[in-house]
Amino acid sequence: MKKLIVGNFKMNTTVQEFSNYLDKFLPDVKSLKNGIVLCVPYTHLMLANQKLVATNVLFGSQNISTEENGAYTGEVSSIMVKSLGATYTIVGHSERRKLFRETDEQINQKIKMALGVNLKVILCVGETKFEHNNNKTKLVIKRELEIALKGLYENELKNIVIAYEPVWAIGTGKTPSTKEIENVVDYIKNVVAEIFSQKSAEKLCILYGGSVDENNCANILKIEGVGGLLVGGSCLSPDKFVNIIK
Ligand code: 13P
Repeated sequence: MKKLIVGNFKMNTTVQEFSNYLDKFLPDVKSLKNGIVLCVPYTHLMLANQKLVATNVLFGSQNISTEENGAYTGEVSSIMVKSLGATYTIVGHSERRKLFRETDEQINQKIKMALGVNLKVILCVGETKFEHNNNKTKLVIKRELEIALKGLYENELKNIVIAYEPVWAIGTGKTPSTKEIENVVDYIKNVVAEIFSQKSAEKLCILYGGSVDENNCANILKIEGVGGLLVGGSCLSPDKFVNIIK
């Protein structure tokens, strides 16, 4: 089945470097069949819009504001991102939760903002090392999902992708065992089935993210229920990212 491979550039590359990246990357992925999405800094969206039109690569932002417009210095709204041709936005990345103190309620608000302008959402959930070591993974994921998805209509779920990103696996070279990933992915489906329905839960696309590289990607993609990958560090080299997508 077709997988969704998303690259999260985080706060990396200048616009010029990103332009060079695309010149290298696009010819290499032209004939690949997986879904490909680049989540880039806001400053790169205009260039992405110009260079990715009529390609098989979609793009998105890494965050959006909880607000529609107004006196919110430094913020970027969902409609602004949408107006630059983006298809996706990441919401609730653990770096935003931790470093910028984003709450589950704000994440819920951001999801509503994105869906309101037809931006698809990549919602990140996952436990910290402490929570993992204390067997709190399911508890954390349940809370994150329940609050993030609060007040949404079931038919909006088709525009949401959920990314399981254990915080302790991000940028550390560590990954959960395949069994652990399988269990959490299955659990995410159960929680969504409880909130909405089994039918909608079955259709969900669930990504895994956290230290994905060229060596472990194939095994992770084989795990039952994993619909794709959310790649950080390894998407910054076009060669490595192309290999992962392949
Ligand atoms: P790494 O692939 O660098 O661990 O980052 C994962 C991530 O946070 C993607 O959103």
